[in-house]
Amino acid sequence: MINVAIDGPAGAGKSSIAAAVAGKVGYIYVDTGALYRAVAYSVIKNGTDPSDSEKVISLLSKLQVELKFVDKCQRVFVNDEDVSDMIRTPEVSMGASVVSAIGEVRNFLFELQKKIARENNVIMDGRDIGTVVLPDAQLKIFLTASPQERARRRYEEIKDKQDVSFDEILIDIIKRDENDMNRAVSPLRQAKDAVLVDTTEMSIEEVISCIESMIRKL
Ligand code: DC
Repeated sequence: MINVAIDGPAGAGKSSIAAAVAGKVGYIYVDTGALYRAVAYSVIKNGTDPSDSEKVISLLSKLQVELKFVDKCQRVFVNDEDVSDMIRTPEVSMGASVVSAIGEVRNFLFELQKKIARENNVIMDGRDIGTVVLPDAQLKIFLTASPQERARRRYEEIKDKQDVSFDEILIDIIKRDENDMNRAVSPLRQAKDAVLVDTTEMSIEEVISCIESMIRKL
């Protein structure tokens, strides 16, 4: 199986780029952030504070998280409920960043990610895919862009749907970068053998064709 790992900070465009490339090469796109979001969503729904590690850990044994692919499109389930549409709120984003710093949460989701990659050609995106989850991936990309550019893109994407300012998004991105890069377990960092793609000055089409051509050469 061919495994492609794409890691990078929040808002670097990983998911739209990985999904587009996966469509072109016929691989399954796996969004691992959705797994951490699903845990955070369940924690919040349960009335638990995501930063209360002990309670979060005790909740894990009651959660059955699954990924299903419908026409190669990922849906995430918790205890048979499809939560894919509920996990995209700012509250769940921040909760995911907090629960993902808990080692037990990462272990809990580890085997699920490995299994999908063992059984399918995948483009998997996240923070620790090239470093921890798929250290033997045939291609590793570290996708990044400046915080300002990432905030600008996110703002353009959601300004008509949510009442949120550019500054709020920028602050949120900087805070999540800090959480993701400074946590003790599996922090966000570029794998030694990953190709760095800085998309600050690139169009999405340029990034897609750049990564697609790297995969075609595998
Ligand atoms: O990619 P995303 O924004 O959906 O991810 C949500 C949070 O989950 C993010 O703050 C970091 C965390 N995450 C992680 O720690 N490891 C991954 N492989 C994917 C996401």
